[in-house]
Amino acid sequence: MRAVTVTRLDGPSALEVTDTVPRPTINADDEVLVRVHAAGVTFPEVLISRGEYQSRPELPFTLGAEFAGEVVEVGRASRLAVGDRVAGIGPTGAFAEYVVGVDERTLPMPNSVDFVHAAAMPMNLLTADFALHERGRLQSGETVLVHGAAGGLGYASMQIALAMGARVIAVVSSAAKAETVRAAGAHEVLFASDFLEGVIELTGGRGVDVVVDPVGGDRFTDSLRALAKYGRVLVLGFAGRSIPTVKVNRLLLNNISVVGVGWGAATRGDKRMVINQWNRLFPSIEAGLLTPRIDRTLALDRVQEALELIDSRAVQGKVVLTVDPQLVASPA
Ligand SMILES: NC(=O)c1ccc[n+]([C@@H]2O[C@H](COP(=O)([O-])OP(=O)(O)OC[C@H]3O[C@@H](n4cnc5c(N)ncnc54)[C@H](OP(=O)(O)O)[C@@H]3O)[C@@H](O)[C@H]2O)c1
Repeated sequence: MRAVTVTRLDGPSALEVTDTVPRPTINADDEVLVRVHAAGVTFPEVLISRGEYQSRPELPFTLGAEFAGEVVEVGRASRLAVGDRVAGIGPTGAFAEYVVGVDERTLPMPNSVDFVHAAAMPMNLLTADFALHERGRLQSGETVLVHGAAGGLGYASMQIALAMGARVIAVVSSAAKAETVRAAGAHEVLFASDFLEGVIELTGGRGVDVVVDPVGGDRFTDSLRALAKYGRVLVLGFAGRSIPTVKVNRLLLNNISVVGVGWGAATRGDKRMVINQWNRLFPSIEAGLLTPRIDRTLALDRVQEALELIDSRAVQGKVVLTVDPQLVASPA
């Protein structure tokens, strides 16, 4: 089958697209085989292609975590049926014509959602839901500041916070990204360069209740300063490439918390977690309230370009690879 293979850890330009990868087979009762129509491209894939991510699969392997398509074979213990439209997430294997999914991470997709949008959902919606519901304990009426709000995870966090009844302040780095997040419903938009002053002004000096931070880096101390009493910073990732440190005296001075959010780690050993999350999100997904922004779709062959776009901070929302040739890629 056609697939994107990693044979050496030299970054996006070293990825290979070939027709010679054997079609995978299901080997356990809780696995399903999915014919992939579209695959979401995630930030960790840039890091994986360079060997810079926490998990390092044995070479060679097929890249790709997120997929959407139809089930073509099911293990005996699966709750799915042949023909089901699904989206799923695994550690690897999604940038291919067929992928083996684990039952509890392969999720039914409403007919109202096409495969391109479905492929862009699992990682960011599930992570943002876990972050805001479980780790952030966000309440309706609270104020949330979202860093990297035009990025994949930031955009999903913004949508979930809005759906939970929060006031959302989006932080971005350009006027084009500001327009994007405003169109998505952000109540206020600030630029990353001076967001703290903006927060003080917009909240009358009170600060925000929750900061969603998938970026890290230099802005972290200002994120702590931007918190109201009992506020929480949710540490989600380090797209800015540097991991900040915290002077813990800041935490007691204003009764604030720094909360780690590792969705993948939380799901390990918990077979119900993702299914329960999906059941909670499904009505909003079906109603179109949680819809990823698709920056563009590219044919599978253009995987290098897809990863380079993410690496260069140029994507607003998600890039999706089309695997089924009947799905038209855009721009051509
Ligand atoms: N904790 C978890 O469970 C979990 C799950 C999924 C992803 N993540 C992590 O979350 C992070 C963001 O993922 P994502 O999918 O949202 O990525 P993304 O779509 O590329 O968005 C990242 C955003 O970060 C901002 N940014 C600031 N400095 C940057 C830099 N030097 N390079 C690139 N972006 C920069 C950009 O916004 P501006 O240009 O507006 O500043 C960009 O929109 C990654 O570190 C990823 O590994 C964590």
